[in-house]
Amino acid sequence: MTPSDVKATLAFSDGSPSMELPIYKGSIGPDVIDIRKLYAQTGKFTYDPGFLSTASCNSTITYIDGDKGELLYRGYPIEQLAVNCDYLETCYLLLYGELPNADQKASFNDRVMHHTMVNEQMQFFLRGFRRDAHPMAVMTGLVGALSAFYHDSTDINNPEHREIAAIRLIAKMPTLVAMAYKYTIGQPYIYPKNDLSYAGNFMRMMFATPCEDYKPNDVLVRAMDRIFTLHADHEQNASTSTVRLCGSSGTNPFAAIAAGVACLWGPAHGGANEACLNMLADIQNQGGVAKIGEFIKQVKDKNSGVKLMGFGHRVYKNYDPRAKLMRETCHEVLGELGLQNDPMFKLAMELEKIALEDEYFVARKLYPNVDFYSGIVQRAIGIPVPLFTAIFALARTVGWIAQLNEMIGDPEYKIGRPRQLFVGATSRDVKPIGQR
Ligand code: SDX
Repeated sequence: MTPSDVKATLAFSDGSPSMELPIYKGSIGPDVIDIRKLYAQTGKFTYDPGFLSTASCNSTITYIDGDKGELLYRGYPIEQLAVNCDYLETCYLLLYGELPNADQKASFNDRVMHHTMVNEQMQFFLRGFRRDAHPMAVMTGLVGALSAFYHDSTDINNPEHREIAAIRLIAKMPTLVAMAYKYTIGQPYIYPKNDLSYAGNFMRMMFATPCEDYKPNDVLVRAMDRIFTLHADHEQNASTSTVRLCGSSGTNPFAAIAAGVACLWGPAHGGANEACLNMLADIQNQGGVAKIGEFIKQVKDKNSGVKLMGFGHRVYKNYDPRAKLMRETCHEVLGELGLQNDPMFKLAMELEKIALEDEYFVARKLYPNVDFYSGIVQRAIGIPVPLFTAIFALARTVGWIAQLNEMIGDPEYKIGRPRQLFVGATSRDVKPIGQR
């Protein structure tokens, strides 16, 4: 952080003493006003419930320019990473700050692929769930349960423990997501096969059965790998902030990541891809493209409570660069599968076109986000809709871990403990029940 020559002065109209606040510059993006001494010096808090104007930390991992629609992982544009790298290279980059060379890549891949199995006891944990349990309920439980198996890597302040926990989480999430899926369809679990790629291994654990060989389709595997890369990290979003706040108490990394899984589930966040596909299916069932106008009318009617899922973003006020890449992946996958005329994809593109020309969306700078097309491509690959957010959690685990480790590695970090503006009852006496 570089101190700016410019200072901020806070003055009060009631003649209270004014206060000078330092301003810091990052390498790119908005400056920050340092208010850490505000309460001690003025007895006042700032007030920012949705954190619309609040930087919770300084970070070197991911940068987003919402106006330009730019996303950089450690300085590399997502468009270049999605085309030139695979997901495990991106994991290496997010964890260690640089892209791996060939030897580093081979060694990292080898480490990850040799931690893909989970303890055999995990299958009995799954048995406690109903077969129709939502995969995110299962994943929240399974990821938290990992801490029960890894006592040798749960001291978050030990860098070796942080490192092995990161490798274990990245390696085991595909196995857990595939187990959660197999459990819901009553098929046997498929063990990892370490000579496959990370995404190829995941596809095999999802779709293979013990009854016949399974040959992953290279185009679909590449698409799956790209979906992982596009979801890997995204600055201080709700689930990452949850992981940081949870981890700031010193809890083990598995518990902190489980908190991130729980937060991601929400339809305003990672659950939007499932909600978006259900929205498209509803429009399709009610008449498809012909019904878009009626649906848009509902969205614009505040009382309807209907939102255009997969649209809008707290930071992007331009096209989410991931949505563009996801749409290209859609084309590739649907082309490979001979589904170019997939009615859902055509409906989504028509809905996007109409929304982007409609004043309501233009005025509010509402553009497609990462969730708008991701459901269509996952459905084409054969992923069931309720599993979409579990796959988002699988991909985001590396971002959560990288952000958690960055926080814990900062000697200045403290437990997160926000305050409040209290508007409730002031002190009063309890009356005997006969007088209440
Ligand atoms: C993700 O933070 C991240 O980085 C998240 C994420 C990541 O990688 O981690 O990018 C992943 O979560 C993407 C977002 C997925 N969510 C959805 O697609 C759900 C639908 N989108 C909305 O719920 C909403 O856009 C949010 C939650 C994403 C952002 O909401 P904000 O920033 O709080 O904005 P807002 O709700 O204040 O909306 C501003 C205006 C409002 O209208 P007015 O009151 O000003 O008249 O835009 C309207 C909103 O009603 N609006 C929408 C809308 N999104 C916002 N209207 C219709 N449909 C929408 N989707």
